[in-house]
Amino acid sequence: MLLDLAWRLGRPLLFSLDAERAHRLTLGTLGAAPSLWAGLLGALAGGPPPGLARSLGPLRIAGPIGLAAGLDKDGEATQLWPALGFGFVELGTVTAHPQPGNPTPRLFRLVPEQGLINRMGFNNHGSEALARRLRALRDAGRWPSVPVGCNIGKSKITPLDDDSVAADYLASVERLRDVADYLAVNVSSPNTPGLRSLQAVEPLRRLVQRVVPAAQGKPVFVKVAPDFEPEDLAQVVEAIVQAGASGIIATNTTLSRPGTTGRLGQEGGLSGAPLWPLARARIEVVVRAAAGRIPVVGVGGVHRPDQVAELLGLGCAAVQLYSGLIFEGPGLVHRLHHELARG
Ligand SMILES: Cc1cc2nc3c(=O)[nH]c(=O)nc-3n(C[C@H](O)[C@H](O)[C@H](O)COP(=O)(O)O)c2cc1C
Repeated sequence: MLLDLAWRLGRPLLFSLDAERAHRLTLGTLGAAPSLWAGLLGALAGGPPPGLARSLGPLRIAGPIGLAAGLDKDGEATQLWPALGFGFVELGTVTAHPQPGNPTPRLFRLVPEQGLINRMGFNNHGSEALARRLRALRDAGRWPSVPVGCNIGKSKITPLDDDSVAADYLASVERLRDVADYLAVNVSSPNTPGLRSLQAVEPLRRLVQRVVPAAQGKPVFVKVAPDFEPEDLAQVVEAIVQAGASGIIATNTTLSRPGTTGRLGQEGGLSGAPLWPLARARIEVVVRAAAGRIPVVGVGGVHRPDQVAELLGLGCAAVQLYSGLIFEGPGLVHRLHHELARG
C-alpha cells in the first residue's frame, strides 16, 4: 500500500527527531489542512470493511479499532482519524483549566522494545477550547461519520477533595456533553499527582455517580489503569458498573517496567508492545468482572492482528491503540481491520 511505502520512507526522519517534536510536526502538518489530508488518506486507507460495524454499548462504531486518548488531545485533526480507518475516535484528555503539562523532555521512545514512556501531564488547551472546535465541526456539517468521544481529566491545580474534583470534571462534562458522542472519565493517567487515588473504590463511585447524571444521557466510559492487583481491579469494575457508567476502557499506561524497559531511567507511563502482557491480563479481569453488564474496550500494546482477535475473543466489544501507530505507521489500522475481516 502507498501509505506503507510513505511510512517506510518517512519513519527514519521522524525517528531522528525528539519524540514530542516528531509528534507536534506530524499533528501540526495534518491539522493545518485536515479536509485535504482526510481526502488523501481516505483514498489511501479508508474506513473499515462494512461487515465490521458493530455496537459499543449505545454507540454504533464503524469497526472495532478506535483511536486511544492522548494522541489528539485538543482535536486538532479530528476528521483525519476515520480516514485512517479508525472505527471510533477518542480525543483528550482535556481538563477544565488549560495547562502546559510537565517540563520537557517528557516523551521517550524505546525503539528495540517498541514502547513509549510519557509523562506529558495532560498538556492541553482545556475543555472549553475543545468544545468550541468540535461545535465548529458540527455546525459546518463536517462531523466525522464515526463516534467521537472526549476524554476528560482533572486539572493539576484542582485540589483532590471530593467536591473540588467533581466540580472540575463536571465543568468539562457540561462543556462537552452536547458536542461529544461519548465522554470518558480518566482517573488512570500516572502523570497528574494524586489522580490515581481517585480510582479507590469509594471516591471513584462518588465521582462517576455525579458525572453520569451531568452527562444528560451521553454515554460515560471510565478508563482504568493496569497497575492493580486483580482482586482490587474487580472491585473497581463493580463500583463503575454500579455507578451507572456505560462502559470501561482498560487499560492506561503502566508505572511498572517489564523486561528492559527501565533502562532509560525515565519516569512516566509505559505503553506499546511491552505493556501487552500486563494489559491483556488486566483486560481479562475487567471483562470477567463486568460480566457483560457494560462493554469493555481493550487497550494496551496492540500492534498485531492476532492481538485484536485475542481481545475480541476475550469478550471486549472494541479495542483502541496509540503506540502501535507510532511504530507501525499510519497504514496499521487499515491492515488490522482488513485482517480481521478476512478472519
Ligand atoms: C504520549 C502518550 C500520551 C497519552 N495521553 C493520554 C491521555 O491524555 N489520556 C488517556 O486517557 N490516555 C493517554 N495515553 C494512554 C493511551 O490512551 C493508552 O491507554 C496507552 O498508551 C496504552 O495503549 P497503547 O499501548 O496502544 O499506546 C497516552 C499515551 C501516550 C503514549
